[in-house]
Amino acid sequence: MTTLTPIGLVATAVSNPAAVNPVPERESLMTAHPHNEIFAPDPAFAEQANAGPDEYERASADRLAFWDEQARRLDWSDEWSEVLDWSDAPVAKWFVGGKLNAAYNCVDRHVEAGNGDRVAIHWVGEPTDDARDITYAELKDDVSRTANYLSSLGLVAGDRVAIYMPLLPETYVAMLACARLGLTHSVVFAGFSSAALRSRVDDAEAKVVITADGQFRRGKPAPLKAGVDEALGSSLDSVDGPAESVQKVLVVRRTGIDVDWQDDRDVWWDEVIPSQSTDHTPEGFDAEHPLFVLYTSGTTGKPKGIIHTTGGYLTQASYTHHVVFDHKPGKDIYWCTADVGWVTGHTYGVYGPLSNGATCMVYEGTPNSPTEHRHFEIIEKYGVTIYYSAPTLIRTFMKWGREIPKSHDLSSIRLLGSVGEPINPEAWRWYREHIGGDAVPIVDTWWQTETGAIMISPLPGATATKPGSAMRPIPGVEASIVDGDAKQVPPEEQGFLVITEPWPAMLRGIWGDMERYRDTYWSRFAEEGYYFAGDGAKWDSDGALWILGRVDDVMNISGHRISTSEVESALVGHDSVAEAAVVGADDATTGQAIVAYVILRESAPEDTDRLELIDELRATVSREISPIAKPRDITIVPELPKTRSGKIMRRLLKDMAEGREGGDTSTLSDPSIMEQIRTKGTRG
Ligand code: PRX
Repeated sequence: MTTLTPIGLVATAVSNPAAVNPVPERESLMTAHPHNEIFAPDPAFAEQANAGPDEYERASADRLAFWDEQARRLDWSDEWSEVLDWSDAPVAKWFVGGKLNAAYNCVDRHVEAGNGDRVAIHWVGEPTDDARDITYAELKDDVSRTANYLSSLGLVAGDRVAIYMPLLPETYVAMLACARLGLTHSVVFAGFSSAALRSRVDDAEAKVVITADGQFRRGKPAPLKAGVDEALGSSLDSVDGPAESVQKVLVVRRTGIDVDWQDDRDVWWDEVIPSQSTDHTPEGFDAEHPLFVLYTSGTTGKPKGIIHTTGGYLTQASYTHHVVFDHKPGKDIYWCTADVGWVTGHTYGVYGPLSNGATCMVYEGTPNSPTEHRHFEIIEKYGVTIYYSAPTLIRTFMKWGREIPKSHDLSSIRLLGSVGEPINPEAWRWYREHIGGDAVPIVDTWWQTETGAIMISPLPGATATKPGSAMRPIPGVEASIVDGDAKQVPPEEQGFLVITEPWPAMLRGIWGDMERYRDTYWSRFAEEGYYFAGDGAKWDSDGALWILGRVDDVMNISGHRISTSEVESALVGHDSVAEAAVVGADDATTGQAIVAYVILRESAPEDTDRLELIDELRATVSREISPIAKPRDITIVPELPKTRSGKIMRRLLKDMAEGREGGDTSTLSDPSIMEQIRTKGTRG
């Protein structure tokens, strides 16, 4: 049962609102502030908003009819016969029998509607004199040329293409060209290591890899093609031979740095794409055709290839972009700062905004290249109106100081968004005050690679907001917070966040491992058929929803998901390491930081300089996974805290990493271990 409270928030049935509950780990971060402010929607904003409060009522009156209506935002070549087929749960079919082309919806139809001259992408390179504007008409030509080239290679719908690129216009073109042909793309973040790229290429059996010679990072060109060569060759420790699935590597010339070349495999983009015809007729694909696979960390060392399909995904991407960001085509300048290597870059960098005919900012570089003013200069110069970013960046801006945004005219901004991790109230308030002129709405959007699109967020013209809360499920999404027995928890009590009904953009499986799909997300509450999100959450007594962080072994570093076991296996891959335990510890800037405890092998040379070894271990993790996964602290310890049955007690290590003392050590096989770690460990 849900009821409406005076501030328009949904409250769950209240059994005992005054109940005192154990304090969840992240609670202090969330409620430390003395105020419990509520920001009601500004009437002037509400007046012009794309969605009003009635949106919730319409959706709850008939959820499937509501999504049927949203699917009609898109152009379909064939109508569907049924909105949802859930008979094969947990694998959903949405818009059964419907056909559409995602690239046509993101590009061609805007040109056909007479908006070909509208800028689709304002691209800004990292070097300050580098910028290009691409209109929808130009984008259509580029996507068609690239589709023609990919077809000429013999690729057919259903084949996989890996994309390993910095944020370039060609990255957008590559993704859309795949979508146009029904090729399932797998974008691999260009900051990932060769080993990570290789495992993703192998898992999806990609036939083509699209990359660039290099990328600009902090003013300097850094190689990228060299990493692809390493990944596809046989030089990696982790592989037996060259990547057999890959037939072609298409290389965008970005930096002009020297690259090795394999004539029968490698092709320069600028030598094959510009000469292609701009005529290309898009074909409608089944609503359930896999649009992309995106790998994300799970609780084991092996990343999961999350599968998203075409019709349901695009419907929810388009709808949420329209209502959560209140986007007005032709008026707004919309900037989602995420890289396309992550799901946010897919849904709110590419598919959501382009399906709505948006004009998007796309910036290649880091926020402090060449100075910490860069984002604000871009906002000012292009008149950015909607800015969607992550708490870790907001906290970094806070560290750099308010004088920086203050020295720019940011008055064009009318809406701010946040995603990727819980936003602490202080950062929320700072964001509103110093970037949003103390006036604009903030949408804190909760969702996951798996959910495909926003699930929990305020609607800026309809929902009151509280600093730090994601507020409530969007229209058409049903969520609950339950205890281990699937019973709803009362307000102020922490429970597990679950999604209780299927939603259009939901994942359809894990590439090549449907059992893991069922197991990871659907076995925890199998009887109820709930999707288990892996996050802790609570309702407060006003009915606002608070996300309290992961409840599994997944860490969240600057909004990036990394599993503890991935980092542990990279560490034990080093010759000197016998055992490793990794925990995520609270960090003022990155949300969580990786903290590792390692035991050395007997065979490790006695005279090794331990601090040097620690540096080497950090480099190993960086090489094996990504620099993002580099532990902040590594401590070499004589032993790890284990129970009598040999299970590592990470909770004690987490307490230690976060500076808490005196956790319950009674179940340890040797209670003196924690003291030994404290006194004998070498930390670097
Ligand atoms: O723990 C939640 C956190 O990020 C996880 C999903 O990570 P990923 O699949 O990489 O997708 C990130 C971008 C959608 C979630 O399980 N998370 C994401 N958004 C929020 C969040 N935690 C709190 N508040 C959010 N707004």
